[in-house]
Amino acid sequence: MAAVLDALRDVLGSGGLKTGDDIPRKNFGDASSAKPHAPLALLLPRSTEEVSRCLAICNTFNQRLVLQGGMTGLAGGANPQEDEIALSLERMVGVEEIDRDSATLTALAGTPLAVIQSAAEEAGFMCGIDLGARGSCTIGGNVATNAGGNQVYRYGMTRRNVLGLEVVLADGRIVRSLNKMMKNNAGYDWTQLFIGSEGTLGVVTRVVIPLHPRSSGLASALCGIDTFSDALTVLRRFDSRFPGRLLVFEAMWREYMDIAIDRSGLAQPFGERHEITLLVEATMGDDAGGEEAFTETLAELIEQGVIKDALIAQSGSDRNRFWAYREANYEFDRVLPKGSHFDVSVPLSRMAEAVDLLRQRSRGRWPNSVLIVYGHVADSNIHLSLFDAGYDETVGQEMNAVVYGIISDVGGTVSAEHGIGFLKRPYLAMSRTAPELDLMRVIKQALDPNGILNSGRILAPA
Ligand code: LAC
Ligand code: ZN
Repeated sequence: MAAVLDALRDVLGSGGLKTGDDIPRKNFGDASSAKPHAPLALLLPRSTEEVSRCLAICNTFNQRLVLQGGMTGLAGGANPQEDEIALSLERMVGVEEIDRDSATLTALAGTPLAVIQSAAEEAGFMCGIDLGARGSCTIGGNVATNAGGNQVYRYGMTRRNVLGLEVVLADGRIVRSLNKMMKNNAGYDWTQLFIGSEGTLGVVTRVVIPLHPRSSGLASALCGIDTFSDALTVLRRFDSRFPGRLLVFEAMWREYMDIAIDRSGLAQPFGERHEITLLVEATMGDDAGGEEAFTETLAELIEQGVIKDALIAQSGSDRNRFWAYREANYEFDRVLPKGSHFDVSVPLSRMAEAVDLLRQRSRGRWPNSVLIVYGHVADSNIHLSLFDAGYDETVGQEMNAVVYGIISDVGGTVSAEHGIGFLKRPYLAMSRTAPELDLMRVIKQALDPNGILNSGRILAPA
């Protein structure tokens, strides 16, 4: 151990390697319920070359590493294990270039997403990636986890928002394709392999993302509806009235809104409570008649009895008020007992059935439990939390079995946008076949034969 640390200190200097009490608590664990743990040491490289030299040393010594970005993950992937040194990209921060002609932005991996969003906006563009953790999460972490978020229906997951990458392989080799071109079909697109690999295949150090025209004039509405089938009618209607301009389509089921109102103290938005509350946003751009069309579309849907209640934002503060409902989930842990959290996708055709089953079975098994359902429904993605006063690790395991069993039965997936990490590894086989898992192992073995990178995340150690 001392020999590895000496070699690493030679590369990073004493300011770039922390041990013992000098390691900040934030590097002990991510935002999930996984148990935090101190790493053996914390490495803070300042350049790709330093990352490369650190990895070469760790690979030679067979020293395991955990890779860290903004620590906002929800799958336990960035939590250090007993035998791991943490390598954090937090000192590799900065937007290096905005190429206006190519409409691309190049940044170091440790750059917070919010910094990238602001830089894009200042240059008259916007970034296609947006998620609740924008202030702390980093672009490298977004890429490593293929993060989803609030604008996926319009711009796709992070995977679709990457043009070029620089990656350091487990043995220290640097592989770089800082591609800015939309089309580049020269052989395998190896960059895609690292997107969503959760740090198990290499360290992302630099990212090129495409920029989009800034979405001016956002129309925003909060709607109350009775059934999921109505939600789909609203989705299809807005999609056809505003093709390619529907930016946000979020749903919050009744129990979620009850907690936001009764326990988190947000105002009741409508005269009565509805089965589902939708947050719908579309960009208006230069379309002078856009806002009128948006209001008309809502009015038609109300007239047809599809939407029961609706509010249209008249100002930025109205819009913030709408988003406060959707982002109230980050506070629920404070007002509710302990619980299990899920991030799943369900085919839209089976969503209503899935929610019914989840309600029935959770209530049957834990009569006083609270189940909340909300999420990015246009992407088939819902988040669930199941809270119970008697919650402990065993109950949590049982909840996982019940919920993932239902999700699997309706043809869903155990991870929509938060990845697998450690927490979902036992359930991966419910969503992937044996040949798929074999292929994943072949890729891992080829790129990290000594298993030093984020060992045990996604796949069990070889
Ligand atoms: C959200 C996080 C939990 O959508 O993914 O709020
Ligand atoms: Zn989400």
